[in-house]
Amino acid sequence: MRRVFLILSMTLLAGVASAREKPRSASSPISDEAVRLRATALLQQMSPEEKSGQLSIHFDFAGFPQISAKVRERVEQGLAGSVLFVSDASSANQLQKGAVEHSRLKIPVLLGFDVVHGLHTIFPVPLAMSASWDPNMVEKAQGMAAAEARAVGIHWTFAPMVDIARDPRWGRMVEGAGEDPYLGSAMAAAQVRGFQGPFIGSPGHVIAGPKHFAGYGAALGGRDYDEVDLSENQLWNVYLPPFKAAVDAGAGNIMSAYMGLNGVPASANRWLLTQVLREAWGFQGFVVTDSGAAESLITHGVANDAQEAAVRALQAGVDMEMVTITKPGVFQSLPAALAAGRISQVELDQAVRRVLEMKIRMGLFENPYVDEAKAAVVFADSAHLEMARIAAERSAVLLRNENRVLPLDIHHIKSLAVIGPLADSPRDMLGPWVFKQNRPNAISILEAIRARVGKTMRLDYSEGVRMPARLYPSPFQAIEGPHPPKPPLDEAEEIKRAAALAGNADATVLVLGEAQDMIGEQASRSSLELPGRQQELLEAVVASGKPVVVLLMSARPLDLHDTQPAAILDIWYPGSEGGNAVCNLLFGEATPGGKLPFTWLRSAAQAPTFYSHLTSHDPAHANNRYWNESGEPRYPFGYGLSYTQFGYANLHVERPVYAPGESVTLTVDVRNIGQSAGDDVAQVYIHQRHGTSARPVRELKGFQRVTLEPGETRSLRFTLTPDDLRYWSAATRSWLQDETQFDVWVGDSSAAPLSGTFEIRRR
Ligand code: BGC
Repeated sequence: MRRVFLILSMTLLAGVASAREKPRSASSPISDEAVRLRATALLQQMSPEEKSGQLSIHFDFAGFPQISAKVRERVEQGLAGSVLFVSDASSANQLQKGAVEHSRLKIPVLLGFDVVHGLHTIFPVPLAMSASWDPNMVEKAQGMAAAEARAVGIHWTFAPMVDIARDPRWGRMVEGAGEDPYLGSAMAAAQVRGFQGPFIGSPGHVIAGPKHFAGYGAALGGRDYDEVDLSENQLWNVYLPPFKAAVDAGAGNIMSAYMGLNGVPASANRWLLTQVLREAWGFQGFVVTDSGAAESLITHGVANDAQEAAVRALQAGVDMEMVTITKPGVFQSLPAALAAGRISQVELDQAVRRVLEMKIRMGLFENPYVDEAKAAVVFADSAHLEMARIAAERSAVLLRNENRVLPLDIHHIKSLAVIGPLADSPRDMLGPWVFKQNRPNAISILEAIRARVGKTMRLDYSEGVRMPARLYPSPFQAIEGPHPPKPPLDEAEEIKRAAALAGNADATVLVLGEAQDMIGEQASRSSLELPGRQQELLEAVVASGKPVVVLLMSARPLDLHDTQPAAILDIWYPGSEGGNAVCNLLFGEATPGGKLPFTWLRSAAQAPTFYSHLTSHDPAHANNRYWNESGEPRYPFGYGLSYTQFGYANLHVERPVYAPGESVTLTVDVRNIGQSAGDDVAQVYIHQRHGTSARPVRELKGFQRVTLEPGETRSLRFTLTPDDLRYWSAATRSWLQDETQFDVWVGDSSAAPLSGTFEIRRR
């Protein structure tokens, strides 16, 4: 009886903040019971059309970044529960007003956005952040990104992208954490914590939406959106773990992928979206499709029309459809599907409930609006830029440093040539997923160098060559803005001029790589060579005979052939503070300590190649599998140099034998054996020698980034939990832990030589 009364009274009050409702303390979440009751009360009042309206997230590129009249109208009619790509407080409030003052049930609108590596303050791209091997830093950075997003009225980010990428031809590798499930899981969980804070609805935080569930990174040939065929072994042991880690960290949303997984489109894949995600992992949030992925079930050939597509997606476990306003959206046919008995009331209500509950947890009914003056204050927080600089410094990876050319000796260098098509390009510093309306000022490398040493040394600049145009223009120009046009350049002449400048300078900084729109979505490549005539420029400049420091702006292993510049520093797309961070690294105020989150292939022909492979029939010749070139990668996973050197010793596994289910403990000493302070990332790899299934030759199972003074030794302790020693076996189709022997290695890359062993045996 009491329950009936409660539901009735909630019904009357639903939709408007109730005066009698206890004000929620911002430091604690709304109780599950209160969330449920409020959602129930709303559901009871909703028409099928209003329900399907809550199950759509719309956008409109027309007039972007202004909100289109169509979107506003749909929100006011209560037929669009969510909108993406709104990113200023006044537009957010206008839209919200339409929802809470004009729509019949006054249900606030949920605003989503791709806050992938920052909104106003741009952090290095996610692949770079992963190269820091510093999940705490990544958590803090994404916390700041969340604060900026929330300040403009955004409630939900379509991030982190946690797709494992083992084929660098795939352009979206830039958005994830690289090739490894262990590192990927650590980064996934850290980002979810950073975005969401301690609970969903934490002030200054947003809902995280790990994507793209699942397997998207394994697109055939690295071709974006192409089909994916993954064995259960690959799925459970490699591609799903980062998603599981994100769900365990409390992610409120999951985005279903575009492509087909083993013949069943991810967005209609009940095994994936319901059996794995909800039943096996206990996911409590809501699932959104990638943009247009529900409608594309027709294209995939698993639905005959819009209604069938909607039914298949909903029944597989999708709760919300992302779709441009220019299309009706297949979820608009859900009321008809309900009337025809193709879906049940329970199925429809369950999806609507998940969306409503998220809005309630986010506190949108109490506080639909955002303080329009606040964004400027949050954007101006100097801690954000400081973090962007630190993140750029900590993510840089030093690949080569002959004769310790780096750091550049500011006291002896009297002239410096700065060369390359990316040397004076602030836009490219930011990388993809940076929107034109939020684009902050970033300074180019040339500008930063000029500000730092322009008064003490002669600086000469040449662009060298131009970036070639893409074969197909970037589809994201509407949101990212086009690259500004440039006057024509005689590249042959400019290459000569650049080589002459290098010859006349004490040292050269040569900035090469891929432009911001050559990486990311719809930016796959069939080659890993430097685009355009950059290789020619590189060879001409190196032939000057003077020390050349190559700064690579990239997010895949580029093929520089066998050209040997004195130093190569991968700075990725370093973000808003990239210029200053790069100067600190060049001139020794910061020391690189990042490590590769992927295997650096020699050429595209080696793709896919990853360190954690199974042994072959003939391991002795593993590196000779092609007769015309070595199978050895250019740099191994986990590799990266420093301005100092480190030594590893005294690897000690605490006991020789452990019982199944016990944790294994090991210790190792790492020592800074060089002349300056620096960071190293100690990495633990294991190999199961025999068992029910074949296991990879090495698998990362632990890491710690440490800062050591010259001569300092640190004793590190690692624990391998039973979960670290378990795997999913295709032989038994279950998770298991074998009684077996393990090899273990510790060092600063996946090629670490220092090894030990232990055994798992019932005693
Ligand atoms: C991408 C998603 C993104 C969405 C919205 C899609 O094309 O695959 O990652 O979140 O667009 O921008």
